[in-house]
Amino acid sequence: MRESRSAELSRDLVSAGICFEREVPLSRFTTLGLGGPAEILARPRSVDEVQTIFELTSNHDVPIKVLGAGSNLIVNDSGVAGVVVHTASLDSVSIREDGIVQAGAGCNFPALVRRTASAGWRGLESGVGIPGSLGGVLTMNAGAYKFSVGVHVEEVVAASLTSGKVILPKTSINFRYRSSSFGPELVVVGAKLSLVADSVADIRADMEEYMRFRKQTQPVGVKSAGCIFKNPEGSSAGKLLDDLGLKGFSIGKARISEVHANFIVHEGDSSTDEVLALIEAVREKVQVSAHIELEQEVMTWH
Ligand code: EPU
Repeated sequence: MRESRSAELSRDLVSAGICFEREVPLSRFTTLGLGGPAEILARPRSVDEVQTIFELTSNHDVPIKVLGAGSNLIVNDSGVAGVVVHTASLDSVSIREDGIVQAGAGCNFPALVRRTASAGWRGLESGVGIPGSLGGVLTMNAGAYKFSVGVHVEEVVAASLTSGKVILPKTSINFRYRSSSFGPELVVVGAKLSLVADSVADIRADMEEYMRFRKQTQPVGVKSAGCIFKNPEGSSAGKLLDDLGLKGFSIGKARISEVHANFIVHEGDSSTDEVLALIEAVREKVQVSAHIELEQEVMTWH
């Protein structure tokens, strides 16, 4: 069934000139380094191609998921059915003289931060250590050190199954703590951000300070999916887990980081099942000991 559906959809994608691969291990595309194959991984190069993928998947009644840098994502070991739209090729960037930055959803966010800083535009520097794509960062309203990307958004460009290309002005978007109002019917393809002129040296100095601090307080350079849980109102999930003595607690090869307790890390040899079992075990311990229901921040594809 999956085989014949894939074959039919593949023929249509070839006819439409869309780049794609079949049965691609998503472990290659997640910072956690885990996850089974995507039935089809498509790499659109324009909003029109995203639209075409929407139409084809809708014709074949195939589910669609959007993948950015895979940095806030846990993919199950058996993989995902349908089409995964990888935004990596939507990576154009232009910086106007008034500090308006127009960038594609597939841009690597830290690279975008460094590029805008080098051009003398302040605003994104505290996000230099956020290992996402711009599209992912916008959809999650990711942030660090009191910064959330949403505050710099002028407009977001998205593809919608029903309305084609849509331009969402900032007033129509609701950015909240680690979430936004973009529904599953929209694929974010790019955005205009508004930044402020400043000295390159000053912005770079701040940026490097944020990076230094991040390296001291978070596990950098190891396989993880970033913070697992959202912070409960008024406290820190990391501190909560640390206070319960959970640093180093493990299931199989997946363990709670010794550097920051809201991260799960492994040496490259764990499985998604172990990571999910660890998340559940920790959630239960916090529920029993602290009577707090932790909400997952990281996204899970089942
Ligand atoms: N703390 C501990 N033990 C730990 C972790 C933290 O005692 O294991 C303490 C820290 O010492 C600090 C407090 O808890 O006093 C808060 O920790 P931190 O400053 O690291 O911030 P956080 O609330 O744990 C949030 C974001 C991070 C972001 C940092 C820095 C969430 C869930 N996490 O972490 O975002 O990088 O602030 O701004 O909002 C992410 O979203 O994936 C992420 C990593």
